[in-house]
Amino acid sequence: MSDDVITIDGPAASGKSTVAKRVADELDLIHIDSGSLYRAITWQALRNGIVAAQATISHDFLDAMQVSTDLKGNSITFLVDGTDPGLDLRSQSVAAAVSDVAAVPDVRRKVTECLRQAAQSRRAVVEGRDIGSVVFPNARFKFYLDATADERARRRHAESTVPSSGVQEVLHALQTRDRKDSTRSASPLTIPSGAVVIDTTTLSIDSVVDTILSSVSDDAGKAEKEEIR
Ligand code: DC
Repeated sequence: MSDDVITIDGPAASGKSTVAKRVADELDLIHIDSGSLYRAITWQALRNGIVAAQATISHDFLDAMQVSTDLKGNSITFLVDGTDPGLDLRSQSVAAAVSDVAAVPDVRRKVTECLRQAAQSRRAVVEGRDIGSVVFPNARFKFYLDATADERARRRHAESTVPSSGVQEVLHALQTRDRKDSTRSASPLTIPSGAVVIDTTTLSIDSVVDTILSSVSDDAGKAEKEEIR
């Protein structure tokens, strides 16, 4: 398993995706969004008429599902049974079901295996909820981004393409998602041991990216000095 990864975990709308992509761009690394794989599996389950309740995602269904990867720019895209779900990953139906699908232990095992494989032969920035705690517990660099629920709801609402939902509605959906993600028994959202925690509530994307880049380069500098000694 590659430990040469940068992990970025945190709740929904904590700024993970934008930050992870920017850090990967700056360091010329591959960017892997693990949430997109949970969404792709959910999409395929829904297409196959499988209701996204935990008990209905069978071991056989997951076993038969082929997950492959494609590189678009520096970001990994996950294909399920040869198909890229594309914008469907962000559909309402996938969004409504994905937390339940992501709570199924067999689904988590499959995603963990695919993520380790995707990062095996290349350095990557991997984002999600359990990346530093479960998928790459020995990663050299771990970060955990957070922000208040109100601020995260404000961000989600501002980027929302569904005009009918107000900030309060978005806040409620976000809190429900947070609760499911952090209370499930299989690898819940948690601050990984050894992670640098960054509260992004009042920070710009640029300053979060800068904080991560300087933390990575400080550590690289220290390692170099130790080697010279
Ligand atoms: O980050 P996102 O909204 O695309 O994540 C979709 C869902 O997948 C969300 O309910 C959290 C879950 N998820 C997870 O449980 N573990 C991860 N490593 C990534 C996402």
